[in-house]
Amino acid sequence: PMENADYNLQEPIIATTGLRRGLTSYGDAHFSLFLRKVFIKALGYSEDALSRPIIGIINTGSGFNPCHGNVPQLIEAAKRGIHLHGGIAIDFPTISLHESFSHPTSMFLRNLMSMDTEEMIRAQPVDACIMIGGCDKTVPAQIMGGISANKPVLPLLTGPMMPGSHRGKRLGACTDCRNNWASYRAGQIDMEEIGAINEELAPTIGTCGVMGTASTMACITAALGLIPLQGASAPAVSAGRLRIAEQTGANAVAAAINQRTPQNILSVDSFYNAAVVLQAIGGSTNAMVHLMAIINRHPAVSGSIDLAMLDEVGRKTPLLVDLKPSGDNYMTDFHNAGGMLCLLHRLRPLLRESAMTITGETLGEVLDKNPFRDFAFSRSIIRTLSTPLHPSSSLVVVRGNIAPNGAVCKASASKDKRLLNHRGPAVVFENSQDLALRLDDPDLAVTSDSVLVLKGIGPIGNPGMPEAGLIPIPRKLAAQGVTDMLRISDGRMSGTAGGTIILHVSPESAIPDSPFGVIETGDIIVCDVENRLLRLDIGDEDLQRRIAERRQKLETGTDSAWNARSARRGYRGLYEREVNQAHDGADFSFLTARGPA
Ligand code: FES
Ligand code: MG
Repeated sequence: PMENADYNLQEPIIATTGLRRGLTSYGDAHFSLFLRKVFIKALGYSEDALSRPIIGIINTGSGFNPCHGNVPQLIEAAKRGIHLHGGIAIDFPTISLHESFSHPTSMFLRNLMSMDTEEMIRAQPVDACIMIGGCDKTVPAQIMGGISANKPVLPLLTGPMMPGSHRGKRLGACTDCRNNWASYRAGQIDMEEIGAINEELAPTIGTCGVMGTASTMACITAALGLIPLQGASAPAVSAGRLRIAEQTGANAVAAAINQRTPQNILSVDSFYNAAVVLQAIGGSTNAMVHLMAIINRHPAVSGSIDLAMLDEVGRKTPLLVDLKPSGDNYMTDFHNAGGMLCLLHRLRPLLRESAMTITGETLGEVLDKNPFRDFAFSRSIIRTLSTPLHPSSSLVVVRGNIAPNGAVCKASASKDKRLLNHRGPAVVFENSQDLALRLDDPDLAVTSDSVLVLKGIGPIGNPGMPEAGLIPIPRKLAAQGVTDMLRISDGRMSGTAGGTIILHVSPESAIPDSPFGVIETGDIIVCDVENRLLRLDIGDEDLQRRIAERRQKLETGTDSAWNARSARRGYRGLYEREVNQAHDGADFSFLTARGPA
């Protein structure tokens, strides 16, 4: 491999070899290198091995993380690719986050993981780093940290799980977790059957098998040009997944030698393409938050793309991918239909082809080199631009006097489209506990025209911004057959859920100046998704007076989330004091490109 044109560069290899980085830590540069070699040699490496580009591999495997259950095999395959191409592979751990085992929410820990990732990539002598991850918050945390560390970084995704099977019907986490649990609660299936279904919903290791947040972020990572296109969808348990790992190893050595750092590769055009893909797959609303957090880590992109631009892209982009929850199928179908290669060819007229990728080719060059030969099954899963599932704007951003910095709605997953243009009286819940106490009260004054408003679940109000935005239909209305209502909150919702739900209202109610915080039961709310409008029907003077009164109360009150922040210890204190709002990505202000230098 050293004779290959790409690697025949003795000088640059030595110059970029990680062990030589930051040589001043022990005072004398040469002594510092000498000491580093002493300790790395304790592991048995030779001078020859240590003269190669050092490729770190981040191990996020854990006994609590089935989504990352194939990490040991991926490390082995990635090492093969690195060694075959003249690098030396060294793996190391960072924290591991699984959706179900990250109390209070994995979102609360995403920024911690991004700090761990950034600092360990920076601290250790790696020339490039493969970041193995897959579960919802892991991929955004790693890309955020990788951009900030700005060494060449290569995501390697664990891949989706296989669908399960129950009485001849396919099942997949987690859209089918919700459907089947609802059937059990309604008495349509019994305890024995729900037990059997429980065994099949996640029948293999890997990430959730529908177009939830993990799959959405996988497609976005491919659209950004950071992974091989098949890497977005090859099943976790497939041989193809291991070949992608080997390929990633090879790509990492080349990226190290050529210093392809994320800040060099990723541009406004890359993120534009990511937004096109997000809209075309009917991706998770969570991805809007993650994408803004990733964008705001990049010094040259931050400020050039905001929620309004993601919405603007949506107006021109149809929904093409027929996967749950917007459609009917599973990630394995998307993969077998051609996956991202097929999707990007279909979307080609909408893409900015000069965006750079991790291999040094532009996206257009990648697509030229890899033509896609269409087939009938492919067209049934990944529609063409002329036969879309939904004409445009799967994800929309609405704005108005109660959401001056925007709020997000997955219009394509609305069950009763009439609600996308609706005017109705608010029924307000101050927080999740208030909701739990009163929602099913038979005396609650609520009709199907009411607008359910849930405050207090934003980044500060309920740290981690829980996925409680899918407010259940009040029991008495559900019993009358009501299946959808307009619902608004400052929280999030699972990427696998649906309904006419407005999320991520910014600024959140916990902030003293929040207009969303002053909505009262009985106020009239106007929502017009077509015109991107969400407003309270109230005069501006009245609104300002209410805000001033509430601010006074919150700033002097001892029990408000706002005031409690300054006295809180530990990571939670750091989180509450530093987290920014959803429209900026709910990142820590001090980690963003526009934060402190
Ligand atoms: Fe990990 Fe769904 S729980 S991807
Ligand atoms: Mg999820």
